[in-house]
Amino acid sequence: MIIFNGKKLAERILLDLKIEISEKKITPALSVISVGEDAASMLFIKNKKEAAKRIGIRVFHYKFNETVKELEILQKIEELNGDPKVHGIIVQLPLPKNFNTGKIIEKIDPKKDVDGFHKINRDLLKDKKKPYFYPPFPLAIFTAIKSAKKNLKGKKVSAIVGSEIFGETLKNYLDKEKIKAQYVLKQKNYFLDIKTKLKSADILITVCGCKRQLKGDMIKEGAILIDGGITCLSNGKIVGNVDRKSVEKKAAFLTPVPGGIGPLTVAFLLKNTYKSAEKLWK
Ligand code: GUN
Repeated sequence: MIIFNGKKLAERILLDLKIEISEKKITPALSVISVGEDAASMLFIKNKKEAAKRIGIRVFHYKFNETVKELEILQKIEELNGDPKVHGIIVQLPLPKNFNTGKIIEKIDPKKDVDGFHKINRDLLKDKKKPYFYPPFPLAIFTAIKSAKKNLKGKKVSAIVGSEIFGETLKNYLDKEKIKAQYVLKQKNYFLDIKTKLKSADILITVCGCKRQLKGDMIKEGAILIDGGITCLSNGKIVGNVDRKSVEKKAAFLTPVPGGIGPLTVAFLLKNTYKSAEKLWK
């Protein structure tokens, strides 16, 4: 089984960015809004901050606790939209259940929506037009698929996704790249009820909260496994959706967690932030 080295690829992208940023003499800035203390989200943000710092991108983190009023978040976004020193704005997902994710994301200026989650950017992508930003997460997944297999003709692709916004951007991005996948929205913690769907996939993408639930006996021989799930265990360890040991002898390719899709997503996010700064820099 080949283990995808997302970290190495991400480092290459970051190094190129670092050189470009220092040559252009600009300081791109990314604002990150988070609500609550979700452990995986905190880790994601930490990784974004560390990578950004190394290459000359500033990160402003606005950390709200769960009791914050939605209006306060909307006002903060409005302020950041109008701030010429801010080139990218993201809201770390998932938000706690009582927040209206759609409404909050729609408040971001699409020209600063470096996650590519705003409806305007999602619709442009859906209509096969160029959005202001391509979403980093699907871009990382596509990059991993391409590194596993150049020719996808006749291959069956399935994607098991845990949230509509991720599912939709993933679908629209893969459609643009002419990868037709079958999508399953999965909000429960186990894969057991979709076993036949899993078994028929040549390329299986999982982006849900199923902790190491995907086992060797559930997949096709020689499957390409793209694990986009990240969960933080109570001991601080990071795990994905796939049980690596159990698929080792059966799968042909795996993106590991940590070190696979995660670092690559961060690198593409920072690349979007740099591109935005290049356009907006005054
Ligand atoms: N949570 C998990 N992945 C992501 C991501 O790429 N962007 C945001 N905003 N939240 C996430």
